Amino acid sequence: MARRMLVAGNWKMHGTAADLDAIGEIAMGAGDGCDVALCLPATLIERAARRHADFAIGGQDVHQADKGAHTGCISAAMLLDAGATLTIVGHSERRQAQGESDADVRGKAEAALAAGLDVILCVGESDAIREAGQAVSTVSAQLDASIPGSIGDPTDFSIAYEPIWAIGTGKIPSIDDIHEMHAALRGRLIAAYGEAGGAVRILYGGSVKASNAAEIFSVDDVDGALVGGASLKAADFLPIVEAARKS
Ligand code: PGA
Repeated sequence: MARRMLVAGNWKMHGTAADLDAIGEIAMGAGDGCDVALCLPATLIERAARRHADFAIGGQDVHQADKGAHTGCISAAMLLDAGATLTIVGHSERRQAQGESDADVRGKAEAALAAGLDVILCVGESDAIREAGQAVSTVSAQLDASIPGSIGDPTDFSIAYEPIWAIGTGKIPSIDDIHEMHAALRGRLIAAYGEAGGAVRILYGGSVKASNAAEIFSVDDVDGALVGGASLKAADFLPIVEAARKS
């Protein structure tokens, strides 16, 4: 099944008003031929979305409830209201530091999709799990427990396979290991959603940069990337977008 590539930047806790020009450079340079998005700190979403109405701006997390006594949290309706069109859920930094469970991640993904946001749902193994030879079984189980029961339009939903040990370290799995994992996750998505599971994008994330993007994008069932550090500057990010466009 032909899937359109998606390259999404995850700015994490980086960016203030001083960075709106950098966001603009990326939004103007993104071009056609593949989908491009930036998931920004909540404080920048509205300003970036207002300036670049045709460019996809996203959040990095969303709460599963519509509203209520959840200090510091953001609902899907709030993200939409600020101009976001998508959100990340289940990033390993939130699973670890905020103690988010698979059930929490599932609830967030379901709430976001129901509200009309696209979702990038992250899964990935620790280095200990990888070294123990349990990466595929562990991440497959994590995916099964984290994905929504139903997804509507499958092109609104993406998985990001992000090995925890590859995030921000400059290390990436071998191309064979990426292939093995993405093929396994494709199988799980088809088991969960039938034919629609073939249309869900599976992004790779973890130390993606201009120098390794083309090789990663050449792997079957790699439908784009979730990019952290290399998404902060247009000069680093746009070559990754270009590699996706050419793949
Ligand atoms: P990185 O982060 O590209 O800096 O490794 C990726 C991520 O955490 O989404």
